[in-house]
Amino acid sequence: MLNKISVTDLDLQGKRVFCRVDFNVPLDDNLNISDDTRIVAALPTIRYIIEQGGKLILASHLGRPKGMVKPEFSLAPAASHLAKLLDRPVTMATDCVGDAVKAQIEAMNNGDIILLENVRFYPGEEKNDPAFCQQLAELADLYVNDAFGTAHRAHASTEGIAKLLSPAAAGFLMAKELKYLGQALDTPQHPFVAVIGGAKVSDKITVINTLLEKVDTLLIGGGMAYTFLKAQGFEIGTSLVENDQLELAKQLMDKAAKNQVRLLLPEDHITAQQFAKDAPPTIYSNDDFPANAMGLDIGPKTAQDYAKEMATAATVVWNGPMGVFEFPAFAKGTFAVAEALAASDAISIIGGGDSVAAVNKAGLNEKMTHISTGGGASLEFLEGKILPGIAALTDK
Ligand code: 3PG
Repeated sequence: MLNKISVTDLDLQGKRVFCRVDFNVPLDDNLNISDDTRIVAALPTIRYIIEQGGKLILASHLGRPKGMVKPEFSLAPAASHLAKLLDRPVTMATDCVGDAVKAQIEAMNNGDIILLENVRFYPGEEKNDPAFCQQLAELADLYVNDAFGTAHRAHASTEGIAKLLSPAAAGFLMAKELKYLGQALDTPQHPFVAVIGGAKVSDKITVINTLLEKVDTLLIGGGMAYTFLKAQGFEIGTSLVENDQLELAKQLMDKAAKNQVRLLLPEDHITAQQFAKDAPPTIYSNDDFPANAMGLDIGPKTAQDYAKEMATAATVVWNGPMGVFEFPAFAKGTFAVAEALAASDAISIIGGGDSVAAVNKAGLNEKMTHISTGGGASLEFLEGKILPGIAALTDK
């Protein structure tokens, strides 16, 4: 990434600047934005472009309307929210392509902002259809991509357009994400600890494989831990397990041993008899796990052991919760990781929607070095994949 040009390399004065942002934010039942993290994260680039006298054309998707106009997926709430944050008007465009939008852009003065309507209202967006890319490109002179959260999608507004509008530059959020995530992969400070959780091993195979070549210690939690534990021959009761991944779990453990990576699995668990919010929690260790219990969180000893690893780490990457943290009785392990990370002096990098939500819920976001705005994008980046939205930008 570091060889891509930055928004600061562009002459923006009087230019129509198409800036792809990721305003795919959660909305409540009244269509109010319930978490504006992604909008706030794009503000530095937005402010810079207007301060430099650009005519700012913002574009984003919201949700998955599948190529159809669905009013509940309109970006209008994001336009009013952005206007409040900036304390200046933001015009909500009637569409994202076509003559009416062109006329709205024609009427803009330097420093004005327009937000295009959801690009996923057109099937051409996700298909990266050349004709749709062309229609988007006709709106502007320059392209800036600040949508790290969508950089893993090769869509018209993230990839195709970048090849038509030159130069195509990275915004500040994009650069910041790549700096922290890139450093963790390429030049991490050691000891380097990764904490990987979530329900399924199958979702995290590639990232674990990549991290086993980089980290000193890998801490595993969440539902996926039970596939590893079963592969080691432990009783796991009725816990979530992927029987078709047992062999792979063994291979990953062998790889860890071969690469001298300490791979730690939970030694105790908060369990219940059913998967339910109000199910009474009981703690068991690996040695007394009963056949009728289901592991729903890491236990207190494991949480303490994992916290110790984070206390002495120089870099920690965390992706995925340690348990069913939506249920308060099974959220302790995930919050313990968040607290241990907040207390540690390590460079802390959090990726993935659930771990980010846990950090925000615990009010510890200020204590982390970097909280990624990308869920799938940060995972794919840590897997070592080249993200198409970044690859398409102009080389320095
Ligand atoms: C995300 O929320 O991860 C991004 O905005 C991408 O959204 P998508 O998974 O619908 O492509």
